[in-house]
Amino acid sequence: MTKSAKLVLDGKETDLPVTVGSEGEVGVDISKLRGQTGAITLDPSFANTGACESAITFIDGEKGILRYRGYDIADLAEHASFPEVCHLLIYGHLPSQAERAEFRTRLALHSLVHEDMKKFFEGFAPVAHPMGILSAMIASLSAFYPEDDTLEEIDLNIIRLLSKAKTLAAFSYKKSIGQPFMYPENDRTYLENFIYMMFAVPSEPYEVKEVVRSALEKLMILHADHEQNCSTTTVRVVGSGGANLFASISAGVSALWGPLHGGANQAVIEMLEVIRKDGSNFQKYVDLTKSKDSDFKLMGFGHRVYKNFDPRARILKQSADEVLEDLGVDDPLLEIAMRLEEVALADEYFIERNLYPNVDFYSGILYRAMGIPTDMFTVMFALGRLPGWIAHWLEQRNAPGGRINRPRQIYTGETSRPWEPLEER
Ligand code: CMC
Repeated sequence: MTKSAKLVLDGKETDLPVTVGSEGEVGVDISKLRGQTGAITLDPSFANTGACESAITFIDGEKGILRYRGYDIADLAEHASFPEVCHLLIYGHLPSQAERAEFRTRLALHSLVHEDMKKFFEGFAPVAHPMGILSAMIASLSAFYPEDDTLEEIDLNIIRLLSKAKTLAAFSYKKSIGQPFMYPENDRTYLENFIYMMFAVPSEPYEVKEVVRSALEKLMILHADHEQNCSTTTVRVVGSGGANLFASISAGVSALWGPLHGGANQAVIEMLEVIRKDGSNFQKYVDLTKSKDSDFKLMGFGHRVYKNFDPRARILKQSADEVLEDLGVDDPLLEIAMRLEEVALADEYFIERNLYPNVDFYSGILYRAMGIPTDMFTVMFALGRLPGWIAHWLEQRNAPGGRINRPRQIYTGETSRPWEPLEER
């Protein structure tokens, strides 16, 4: 049966169509509301607004479900490789053997960055945050690869972006520690190549540890998409104006940077360090979140959509335990994180508000164990999120009847007033 909704405003009834998604989600379609009633809806921070229809990722925040194109995140994390997940998100299906081989070859062939781009790195201050560098470098790719008229050109730019972003990220790390850049080696797989460019040094053989590769594969897969989050919405909004792929994704990188979003993984480690240095008094920090005089939050806790548990955090917590053991790393921050989680989850404030660890709570501990420096953590998130951003950019570009994103507002400023000459002010 087709559903519909009724709105009564100033005594006048308006029928509103209702859209139901493939998982039964219900959306009251208000796209013609202003024309029909003269009114708009008000939803600051968009907690109740569906900005689009999308066939990429499904989340049920109450049940802790996350699926990419119908596949459960736990299955993908256990069985898939990151490039397979990129293919799944961008092209809509898992690659066949032939497609997988072709995709891998294309990713390998485009991993070099233009030699002129290397000069850009010389211009960044040594203290530059790698997220700023990554955003700038991705936007700069549009200057080297401006062609994006045909589907083939767009597809080539997608491959270029996926492949070069990891090279740019590794170069920005090498720049920050003053080591020479390591060029990609095409016989290595996607993530092996990234690890190699990050940690190898010239004229010394470098073997990628399997435990590091497989942990990174899992991390990247778990971050690969998360439907209409802040950075993905940014990518879609920028793309809706017709901006090219590189410009739109660069905006996504900037949006991800904030500590309430992807920057939380860096903020978690910084917070755990503070707690450790302060004698591991967990209750003090849990209490601080409740204090009216403080705006302190437990970083890595809470989520707009998950109200039960974040399935990504569950997988990562278990993975952190195993990976640290395999690598022989004894990180006191893991113990602190686990104890803090225990104390917070038993606290009435956190129970009432359904606050649980999110994906960023344990990811930093894994990155640390791999030797990745703290200010590169959000770059790691960005590399993982790339296929999701690309898939959404493409989806909104190809959507029939797509229009530029342009919300309205309820104006609350001064009403019309006459000009005041300077001498009378
Ligand atoms: N610590 C303490 N209190 C919290 C926290 C937290 N981490 N998160 C939310 N709350 C409280 C918040 O103060 C509010 O309390 P009250 O109802 O008394 O005003 C209540 O819980 C609801 O929170 P909210 O701020 O309305 O929730 P939101 O949906 O607007 O924000 C969030 C979601 C993730 C930004 C927020 O939980 C937060 O700031 N968490 C810490 C930062 C973080 O870990 N971010 C990573 C998110 S997961 C990765 C990603 O997708 O970006």
